[in-house]
Amino acid sequence: MVGSTHPLDALRDEHDRIFRVLTAMRAEAQSAVVHGRVDADFWSDALRFLAGYAAHWHDAREEAVFDLVAENDEIASTLRLLRAEHIQARGLVHELRVVVGARDARSIELAAHALAALLHRHILIEEELFQRVLRRQIPEARLGAAMRRAVSDEAECRARALEELAEHVIASVSPSRAC
Ligand SMILES: [Fe+2]
Ligand SMILES: [Fe+2]
Repeated sequence: MVGSTHPLDALRDEHDRIFRVLTAMRAEAQSAVVHGRVDADFWSDALRFLAGYAAHWHDAREEAVFDLVAENDEIASTLRLLRAEHIQARGLVHELRVVVGARDARSIELAAHALAALLHRHILIEEELFQRVLRRQIPEARLGAAMRRAVSDEAECRARALEELAEHVIASVSPSRAC
């Protein structure tokens, strides 16, 4: 990750990338409602990114980081919430996949909005937790080692490819349709 030194910076960069894809999805969903056309290729790519990157690569490394502060009673309920929201987000990705399959533009818009709203709030909580607790309590090397252990070398390669896919998804929304 260019420009990132602390392991938590990589997670923050991933949050930015996920946000940008969600913004593109919401713009595309609005366009689908207005123009009555669901772009199957766009949604196939967006869903591939969400399933492989947000809900797999990112969550796996993040949950390994959560494990390092699992004994901290002050944040136990926050960690439970965040883990539950990872599962909830996967459910919303599944719902989105179903309505994309049905070419139902209005339901796609609603599902994309629900997912973006959940992840926006979720990521704000995580960023605060990273700053307030993890950066202060866990040495950088331990964070980095936990994140590396959580995923395979193959997963790392897939993640880099999915980052390229994210840029493609974002670029697929024309400027006139972007939020
Ligand atoms: Fe998360
Ligand atoms: Fe996250």
